[in-house]
Amino acid sequence: MKRMLSGIKPTGRLHLGNYIGAISQFKKYQDEYEMFIFIANEHAITVPIEAKDLRKNTKDLVALYLACGLDPSKATIFLQSDVSAHAKLGWVMTCMSYMGELQRMTQYKDKTAKGEAGITAGLFTYPPLMAADILLYDADYVPVGVDQKQHVELTRTLAERFNHRYSDTFKIPEPLTTKVGQKVYSLQDPTKKMSKSASDPKGTIDLLDDPAAARKKIMSAKTDSIGIIQYDPQDQPGLANLLTIQSVLTGEPVESIVSRYEGKGYGELKKEIGQTVFDFLTDLQARYNEILTSGKVDEVLKEGAEKASFIANKKIRKVYKKIGFTI
Ligand code: TRP
Repeated sequence: MKRMLSGIKPTGRLHLGNYIGAISQFKKYQDEYEMFIFIANEHAITVPIEAKDLRKNTKDLVALYLACGLDPSKATIFLQSDVSAHAKLGWVMTCMSYMGELQRMTQYKDKTAKGEAGITAGLFTYPPLMAADILLYDADYVPVGVDQKQHVELTRTLAERFNHRYSDTFKIPEPLTTKVGQKVYSLQDPTKKMSKSASDPKGTIDLLDDPAAARKKIMSAKTDSIGIIQYDPQDQPGLANLLTIQSVLTGEPVESIVSRYEGKGYGELKKEIGQTVFDFLTDLQARYNEILTSGKVDEVLKEGAEKASFIANKKIRKVYKKIGFTI
């Protein structure tokens, strides 16, 4: 079975875009691949974050993942900081990286270009840590958004460099960018991605939003004045976005939804989608609350850390031998 690995930063609440773009895919992937999913908490501190927020985000994230249907008997779910090999290999990868390479990474480049204050050295060396995350597990595939593709490219470069300088040690991973049509856009500005930044609360549906409030957001979603229900992301991006949401949450193909609504209006369609979202969130949150109170999160993370450590420690021992740390 091929291996797939994904990390998520616990820096905000999960929204419907995360569910449709990533988590719903992971649910399928966990049957097809040997999955490793970790909470990238070491990456989360590259920008200041309060301990209580980090703690809460982490716990919520794991509980939500489980509530969304990720199954710890299929996928290994763990915290990055529970597996010390990440920090260890992260340092080695930092030393394999050239300043110029890291200066070209867009996140760092954009922030420096904007003259942002308080950029940490951690933000600069974050890509080699991400490389370590991936290489420890010999991952074949890394599902990422376009913004992260560059980091997987760097990972490949660093792995090849290490393999060449020492000897064959790391598998060269491949980025897997999400399929078209699975992206979710802001309900208020459908040209922008749905995002966890708080600047667009009406455009974003949090997985922990009150279901009734979420339904309202669907009802007031921006559409267009064309007035015909069809799937046309170019000219009717708001409508296309709503159709994507309905289709992923119910499993009904977009064409079938469109044909059911022939000759009907947006209001009626929104009503159905609002109800779909309402039901989806209600069920999800019931499972989430049950998981949070059951102690399941701790249990899953403990087991996940053990499984991940076993593999990662083997790899770091190999690396330490090759680079001359083990005498
Ligand atoms: N950098 C990713 C993000 O910002 C999170 C991440 C850290 C990650 N390590 C990873 C993703 C390894 C995939 C594989 O979203």
